Amino acid sequence: MTTTKPVADPEDTAALEADLLAGFFDDPPTVPPRWFYDEKGSVLFDRITRLDEYYPTRAEAEILRARAAEIVGDTTTLVELGAGTCEKTRVLLDVLAGREGGATYVPVDISTEMLDDSARSLAADYPGLRIEPVAGDFLALDGPLPGEPGGRLVLFLGGTVGNFTEAQRAAFFAMLRGIMDPGDRFAVGFDLVKKRERLVDAYDDADGLTAEFNLNMLDVIAATVPCEGLDPRDFRHEAVWNERESRIEMWLRAVRDVRVEFPGLGLARTLAAGEGIRTEIARKFGANGLVEELAGHGFGRPGVWTDPAGDFGVGVVVVD
Ligand code: SAH
Ligand code: AVI
Repeated sequence: MTTTKPVADPEDTAALEADLLAGFFDDPPTVPPRWFYDEKGSVLFDRITRLDEYYPTRAEAEILRARAAEIVGDTTTLVELGAGTCEKTRVLLDVLAGREGGATYVPVDISTEMLDDSARSLAADYPGLRIEPVAGDFLALDGPLPGEPGGRLVLFLGGTVGNFTEAQRAAFFAMLRGIMDPGDRFAVGFDLVKKRERLVDAYDDADGLTAEFNLNMLDVIAATVPCEGLDPRDFRHEAVWNERESRIEMWLRAVRDVRVEFPGLGLARTLAAGEGIRTEIARKFGANGLVEELAGHGFGRPGVWTDPAGDFGVGVVVVD
């Protein structure tokens, strides 16, 4: 027998089925953004970061360049969650690589091909650093973190924190606090509220890359779980600014009535024409909102920097 469909990792199948059960049959249906990032999705995201409309990567890189020494401080182990290509992190690794006695960089990502490529190229470029990649879900970290208590910096860049709901963010901060020790630091990049047009354009670019990235999730789902009727041609990308929730929302909107069946779950759902699946939220913050929230989770001594244009912020806090 031959098959044209690659066999999915059974762990991914189980994880996606759990996510579908938790959200796809709700109103509105939702699928978590981690399912954007197969190999194709990771490459598409990397291309998005270079679009004129997608300012966050450039703005955050500017802050990191200006503040690298302060952000790295006396870190000996840098753990980066959702590291992706690790490109922006290189200015921090330049500082870390100069550390007497050596230092360790631990990129964590769910996208294994991207993680392997990034780790290989960093190992070649930073022979003095220990590079110890970890493939896995940053929402399910089980401690202890690598490195000496008090010498760790946990880095969470890109505004990925904005992809969590309020409840997920609170649970994530509590989980982090549970696996970090006094003196360890947490640095988080976050996107700032700005004019609606710029926000929407950043998530609905003229070249259609973000649309391709969003629609690719349907192929990831179909390749990961047994599934009938999920055809990207039946959906269109939509990015909307939800003022009340201070967030961009990405939707896949059905262009005709679509019946989706998941034989493995024994469940099906019909999406009427115009009905949408919410695939991502991207929350936008005020400058001090996140560090104030982190204070409530046992993280103190905040430092916050924004880029000169005031588009993006990076906050650093210390475990009390
Ligand atoms: N930090 C990079 C990449 C941001 S894109 C930057 O700032 O440009 C989000 C990254 O998080 C992707 O590399 C994706 O594969 C990863 N990711 C998404 N959900 C994840 C999860 N639940 N666990 C681990 N990594 C995840
Ligand atoms: C990874 N994350 C912070 C990106 C964002 O801006 O929310 C993902 C993305 N979605 C569309 N474009 C980029």
